[in-house]
Amino acid sequence: MKFAKSILCIGAGYVGGPTMAVIAAKCPECKVTVVDINEDRIRGWNSDKLPIYEPGLDAIVKQCRGKNLFFSTDIPQGIRDSEIIFVSVNTPTKTFGEGAGMASDVQYLERTARDILAHSRSSKIVIEKSTIPVKTAQAMENIFLSSPRSGVHFEVLSNPEFLAEGTAIRDLENPDRVLIGSRETPTGITARQTLVDIYAQWVPRERIITSNIWSSELSKLVANAFLAQRVSSINAVSALCEKTQADVREISRAIGADSRIGAKFLNAGIGFGGSCFKKDILNLVYLCRSYGLEEVANYWESVVKINEYQLGRFFSKMLKAMLGTMSGKRICLYGFAFKADTGDTRESPAKYLTHKLLAENAMVTISDPQANDNAKIDLAGYGEAIQYIADPLDAARDADALVVMTDWDIYRKIDYAQVFQKMRKPAFIFDGRNILDHKKCFELGFNVFPIGQQELTHLKYE
Ligand code: NAD
Ligand code: UGA
Repeated sequence: MKFAKSILCIGAGYVGGPTMAVIAAKCPECKVTVVDINEDRIRGWNSDKLPIYEPGLDAIVKQCRGKNLFFSTDIPQGIRDSEIIFVSVNTPTKTFGEGAGMASDVQYLERTARDILAHSRSSKIVIEKSTIPVKTAQAMENIFLSSPRSGVHFEVLSNPEFLAEGTAIRDLENPDRVLIGSRETPTGITARQTLVDIYAQWVPRERIITSNIWSSELSKLVANAFLAQRVSSINAVSALCEKTQADVREISRAIGADSRIGAKFLNAGIGFGGSCFKKDILNLVYLCRSYGLEEVANYWESVVKINEYQLGRFFSKMLKAMLGTMSGKRICLYGFAFKADTGDTRESPAKYLTHKLLAENAMVTISDPQANDNAKIDLAGYGEAIQYIADPLDAARDADALVVMTDWDIYRKIDYAQVFQKMRKPAFIFDGRNILDHKKCFELGFNVFPIGQQELTHLKYE
């Protein structure tokens, strides 16, 4: 079959896979190929068990795979055959050298630019899909300028991705906005229009925002910083609520009703996780410092500090509530993923908590409907101190405490009377997501410790 356009995506991860599957579904006249250096991942994308769990993803991949959606490890061929290349490789926090622990590690991105340069025989539109430091387009352009080939032009665009895990397909099919940044040159504007036309096949035009390339790059970091800042703000308030008998859920409802504030991202909890919030804020902080903007850097850094404080505070509260010792006690974690509806455990608060619990000589049971496999990889080496039990009722057997770590819907629906019967007494619930019926659990006999609300306990703490 002859396709109108050939699109390539380098990087078949949480962003590349779902994004390209949706583009393939919405643009049947385009051939969409996703390549990766990771053979296992590509094998997974070509199999019945996709490498990532995302509601709705299986159906869309099955619908398009082998028709206009292809997964491959042949990167040179992919580059040669395409006109439009999305770059969706990982950009983790640097772990070495200058900026270690703060700056973004853009080595994979640079490698990709070098690959594109080496294998291109015709002009390409190269699109930054990865989240990157502002001014990265300049670095990409400099690679492309380093060994020019006559008649071959590379136009770099920025098209950051705003999908959230767990709702990726919905977010891609019906985005609040699509952002496309370009150079404001004739070739830049033409390339930008090409990409606008692709998205316009399913996204209303008024939701496709165009801007200069630096605004687009920086908007992505700022969007994540604003979202994370809301979570840290409400988490900071939750600490005050616990001291004052105010209820953080009532505060969220009250302030969220103000249309200027809005109701979303006001759920207090154990702190934000996920592969991006922390890394993107630290990247922003690093950028601000490197431009000499110390006060601005400190402001954003405090969002990460409050997040760490919240999780530390939660653990201290657990230890105190459990009579000062966890040695030999079994703690059952309900959820290990960093949020519901994903198997992703990157920067999951549950990982941090597990390390803290094991350091107290506690025994840990992990129960997550999708993330147990990733948890096993993350916690390899701990041996018998950790057990993995998918069924939440079985997982609660002989536990001293239940800790709700992930807001999976199933935890709202469990029969906590049965759970209570299975547990050792006194039985504790630490609801790190504020999703349970605390009063009911208390009446069943549990000692209940929510976030940002008074605890409900049968024990006496002076
Ligand atoms: P990921 O780690 O799941 O996937 C990245 C993939 O790129 C990996 O499979 C890796 O093998 C591949 N890769 C690395 N170098 C390569 C190279 N030289 N050639 C070919 N493949 C290469 O990462 P992700 O979660 O998909 O994130 C990708 C980017 O998107 C990051 O910059 C991230 O900040 C951003 N982002 C992520 C999300 C999210 O929800 N995960 C949302 C928006 C933006
Ligand atoms: C986030 C952004 O929402 C996406 O727009 C962005 O594209 C993505 O990061 C990215 O760049 O990677 P994601 O991390 O997948 O998406 O999930 P979120 O829904 O934002 O949740 C992040 C963390 O905050 C989770 O741990 C979640 O439980 C926590 N959270 C969120 C709260 O604790 N309270 C809230 O009210 C909302």
